[in-house]
Amino acid sequence: MASERPKAIERVLLDETAIQRRVAELAAQISADYADDAKLLLVGVLKGAFIFMADLTRRLTTEHYVDFIALSSYGKGATSSGAVRLIMDTREPVTDRHLLIVEDIVDTGYTLDYLVRTFRSRRPASLRTCVLTSKPARRKVDAEVDYLGFELPDVWVVGYGLDYADRYRTLPYIAALKREVYVR
Ligand code: PRP
Repeated sequence: MASERPKAIERVLLDETAIQRRVAELAAQISADYADDAKLLLVGVLKGAFIFMADLTRRLTTEHYVDFIALSSYGKGATSSGAVRLIMDTREPVTDRHLLIVEDIVDTGYTLDYLVRTFRSRRPASLRTCVLTSKPARRKVDAEVDYLGFELPDVWVVGYGLDYADRYRTLPYIAALKREVYVR
């Protein structure tokens, strides 16, 4: 039985079928690109990437390993400094591995830029990024996205890992939140 949509939801932007189809396409592309690389290590960025990571990795047909990191960012509004702090590192060493950073969203780009710079300094064999969603209108710094799922408009989105005040992450779709919920 389908559960009722939370009242804070304005409209669904990407339904479950569209997301799952795109995740399968991304997994097929990644599997083909890394078919000969036995050392593929996917690094998911907590918390937001946990659902995308779970679905993506289960669809990969090439050998791979899974790890996570956690970050903390200082402020997301107009005054955001873009400062990002690593609060939990990977368990796996990344040197000489084929690294694929997995993110749920690129917004200002500060987080992905920090991740790429941080991991590049550890000398992986290669480094690419896989991001499910992007809000190009919000970009403050260039962020390298090698595999992108969808572009989104500049509205607050929740679901499929994305949250508002840590809520709505486990919705199977991605939806716009009602403006009155987040604009005060
Ligand atoms: C979100 C998202 C990305 C980041 C993108 O994480 O998961 O990591 O913001 O934003 P940016 O491009 O502006 O840097 P958030 O800090 O909300 O933490 P969470 O993943 O735990 O929800």
